[in-house]
Amino acid sequence: MPDRFEILHKDLAGRIGRLSTMHGTVETPALMPVVNPHLPLIPPSELQEMGADMIITNSYIIHQDPALKIQAIERGLHDLLGFSGPIMTDSGAFQLSVYGDIDVSPLEILNFQFAIKSDISVPLDIPTPPDVTRERAQSELQITEERLVQAASLERSGLLACPIQGSTYSDLREKAGRFARDLPFDVFPVGGVVPLMEAYRYRDLVDVVTAAKKGLGSGRPVHLFGAGHPMIFALAAAMGCDLFDSAAYALYARQDRYLTVHGTGKLEEMSYLPCCCPVCQEHTLKELMDSPQKTRLLARHNLYVSLAEMKQVKESIREGSLWDLLETRCRSHPRMLDGLRRLAHQGSWLETLDSANKSTFFYTSTEAALRPEVMRYARRIDRISLQGNVLITDDSQADTAGFAHVLHFKPPFGPYPAELAETYPFNAEVPEEADGAAIEQAVRNAKDLMRANPEAKFSIRLRREGIEERIGGTNGI
Ligand code: GUN
Ligand code: ZN
Repeated sequence: MPDRFEILHKDLAGRIGRLSTMHGTVETPALMPVVNPHLPLIPPSELQEMGADMIITNSYIIHQDPALKIQAIERGLHDLLGFSGPIMTDSGAFQLSVYGDIDVSPLEILNFQFAIKSDISVPLDIPTPPDVTRERAQSELQITEERLVQAASLERSGLLACPIQGSTYSDLREKAGRFARDLPFDVFPVGGVVPLMEAYRYRDLVDVVTAAKKGLGSGRPVHLFGAGHPMIFALAAAMGCDLFDSAAYALYARQDRYLTVHGTGKLEEMSYLPCCCPVCQEHTLKELMDSPQKTRLLARHNLYVSLAEMKQVKESIREGSLWDLLETRCRSHPRMLDGLRRLAHQGSWLETLDSANKSTFFYTSTEAALRPEVMRYARRIDRISLQGNVLITDDSQADTAGFAHVLHFKPPFGPYPAELAETYPFNAEVPEEADGAAIEQAVRNAKDLMRANPEAKFSIRLRREGIEERIGGTNGI
């Protein structure tokens, strides 16, 4: 069998891929709407029409309902739910984390998933919450890993998921990732992160996911368990998450909450429906509020928005502009911005993965000064070797006679060789009026360059005022 996961395009640590299952191939990143087998708010056949290529349901709920259990075994999961595409099943581990106990053994629930022909089965892991003692995180991880080894040895025809736990201990997450990488699994969900997302702890989320990814390596498909709010798809995809599951579309609808890529609105506090999905086009806010179908309609809107954002993420990856999307999305909440900054600090890791052909770099917010390209240049500027008279200028008409080297100057890069002016990333479109973050980085780079070349004689001719003084002025002629 060819590789079950194939990567087609990359940007940052994100990628567009293809995951092959028994019920077809899906393009990733993909959002799997969560289907409650008891009361689906949107029937699975309609989910497919709305654009969901793959869904996820809970095998434990089916297993605990005698009538459903028999039907699932006799007819198979796909016939039971009325969905012809790939279906992933969860194991009840989340119920375990909420209720503390479930009455089915790990082997039983895994074999049940195989029996009902799940496309991706999940062994019963222990979702360790954030901030527990290291001892607890370690001992629960060990139990999860023992179950994973057992699961990996079973006969199966579908794909098998390998949850990665380890609480908020980055080293445990990385170790769990390394452990997983050597086992014959197909999909690698990062688990135990729902409490982080509920508490807006995106910085910790970035630490946990990047640690797991480092251990796992870049070639494997990663699922971020419980990530259903469209606000975080871009950030999660940028870290290399390929699968997402959304219970949010239904849970929020039940609370009259309207999802957008910027956050969550309360219907009663809104005045308009600012969206072009069929629900928002066909209803006014009042009609929606008064409709006996309100929850269903709202669930549909929530899902449309989520599926559309996933397409936006894919388009951005394809275009090499995922960072720009991140900058926009991370304006939604101050903690999202913390998450983005944390990811920016993983520059050397991103650098090893980021191989996209980029669209032109647009500097439109101070976070652009943290872009991997900028950080990469800052780390390497001291490798530029200069002798003799060197001119640093932001004036393309400047008289360059008598200079052995001419460097252009553009915040946030600072000085760069003039011959690279048309080359990415130095061909960046930047504002005429640079902001503080860009100038600070440019000045720092200029100083580092001068320090690395003590023998060269620098002349600095900048039209922008005040920067020469900050660099330390001219040291030469
Ligand atoms: N759903 C949300 N989080 C988790 C997790 O950590 N493990 C499993 N199996 N399901 C989840
Ligand atoms: Zn809508």
